[in-house]
Amino acid sequence: MRHQPRVVIIGAGGHGRVMLDVLRCQGTAEVVGFVDDAPGLQGSTAHGLPVLGTVEDLVKLRHQGIEAFVAAIGDNAIRAKKFACATEAGLAPWDAIHPSAVIAADVTWAPGVQVVAGVVVNTGAQLGNNVILNTACSVDHDCRVGDHCFIGPGARLGGTVKIEEGAFLGIGAIILPNLRVGAWSTVGAGAVVTRDVPARVVVVGCPARPVSSQKHQP
Ligand SMILES: CC(C)(COP(=O)(O)OP(=O)(O)OC[C@H]1O[C@@H](n2cnc3c(N)ncnc32)[C@H](O)[C@@H]1OP(=O)(O)O)[C@@H](O)C(=O)NCCC(=O)NCCS
Repeated sequence: MRHQPRVVIIGAGGHGRVMLDVLRCQGTAEVVGFVDDAPGLQGSTAHGLPVLGTVEDLVKLRHQGIEAFVAAIGDNAIRAKKFACATEAGLAPWDAIHPSAVIAADVTWAPGVQVVAGVVVNTGAQLGNNVILNTACSVDHDCRVGDHCFIGPGARLGGTVKIEEGAFLGIGAIILPNLRVGAWSTVGAGAVVTRDVPARVVVVGCPARPVSSQKHQP
């Protein structure tokens, strides 16, 4: 039987469970367990698999034969940090892609992409490192999605949209064609973006407007 890389999932919460399902459906890696920094989880089980330690333990786990990781954390800034820790520990980012996703042949992505069930990525799109494309979102032709972005369930990107590093799009957000969402900005659930969004703001509504929010991204 062909060797299957041993993969650990960083984050034992809801998105970790989704990634476990994606990896099992994908069927090309052996998921050995989770790591999670939340106190008290280590040594327990999550979703039927062991919690093997914290991110601090990744070097030790690499010496035990674990080769790759998926950073299954919805918060973009935290996911970016864990991604950096895991690659520094010598693990490779694993591309977790659900078999029901439809991805055009010329789409390119950097390592560590997470593509959940029902996603469509159209021709010419480019995805950065550690990007999450959540359930049934669509990324249309020639879009650019930067490193560490999160595209929420059912979100829709028109053609040639640019989503800059670390931007977060909530459930069902719509970005009209040719627009840009600036780095580390948040687009609220259900928002319709009709103009460029600057960096590091939160926008909500239809048409989307800036809102004062407690949610901060670096
Ligand atoms: C936009 C968002 C980030 C704001 O978060 P927050 O800072 O905790 O929100 P607040 O409760 O402080 O909201 C600030 C104001 O914006 C409004 N608001 C919040 N989210 C909104 C949304 N999506 N659409 C319209 N208005 C919204 C609130 O009603 C509030 O208005 P008020 O000041 O008149 O009462 C959040 O509401 C959101 O939409 N997150 C996306 C979640 C998501 O889709 N996650 C993916 C899970 S898989």
